[in-house]
Amino acid sequence: MKLDVYLSPGELSLGDAVGRVVAVIDVLRASTTIAVALDNGARTVAPVESADDAITRAKAFDRSEVIIAGEKKMLPVPGFDLGNSPASFSADVVAGRTILLSTTNGTRALIGLQGARDIVVAAYVNHSAVAAMLRAAARANTDVAIVCAGDEGHFSLEDAACAGRYVRSVSQLGRSVVCNDAANACELIDKKYGDNIAKIFRDSSHGKALAQAGFEEDLVTCAAVDSHPVVPIYQDRQITRLGPDRER
Ligand code: MLT
Repeated sequence: MKLDVYLSPGELSLGDAVGRVVAVIDVLRASTTIAVALDNGARTVAPVESADDAITRAKAFDRSEVIIAGEKKMLPVPGFDLGNSPASFSADVVAGRTILLSTTNGTRALIGLQGARDIVVAAYVNHSAVAAMLRAAARANTDVAIVCAGDEGHFSLEDAACAGRYVRSVSQLGRSVVCNDAANACELIDKKYGDNIAKIFRDSSHGKALAQAGFEEDLVTCAAVDSHPVVPIYQDRQITRLGPDRER
């Protein structure tokens, strides 16, 4: 089976995702926020095109059932209930509610995907849970794609390093896994840093920008491997967690 990494959504050509299991990675911070929110009991997370779209879609809900969340240039959008700091999606805030989420890269990467068999949201906080799903796909000889949300169309070190960790988990299955160059390069980045994820964030431009903007706590939350062991599946414009009521 093929295991391909795309370093930004722009690298994907039409058809590349068709029939595949696709993992979308935006470690800082959208993927992490989605996993934390679902692990804390959010009913569903709906990625939306823009902040205006979030406000429009919220009108279809009873205001007590919905949370409008997201960032622009890392900062919470004025008038929204939450920004994009994962820890703020705590159980007392999100349990049983729908979250409409608008972010710069992560939600756009999800919305732009066409034709995949399954789309799963991946980060460090849910690594082992999602890696198990990707390995199951590989064993079933289903091709896998890992799409890095990147930084406004550009390469992002933290997404590539995280992709490398997933590549390592799947390619452990042996020779039947054929990786593209980007996958091999990401695995080398992951091996270089090992478990020092805090260093990856210190070295990455988006990690530095978040620290300078006062979001150091978010970097700690996003680096906590397997702290939120959920499998977020994106289907029909919404993300829900894989579980007894939703098998694959
Ligand atoms: C994004 O989607 O671009 C990121 O999650 C932005 C951020 O939260 O810093």
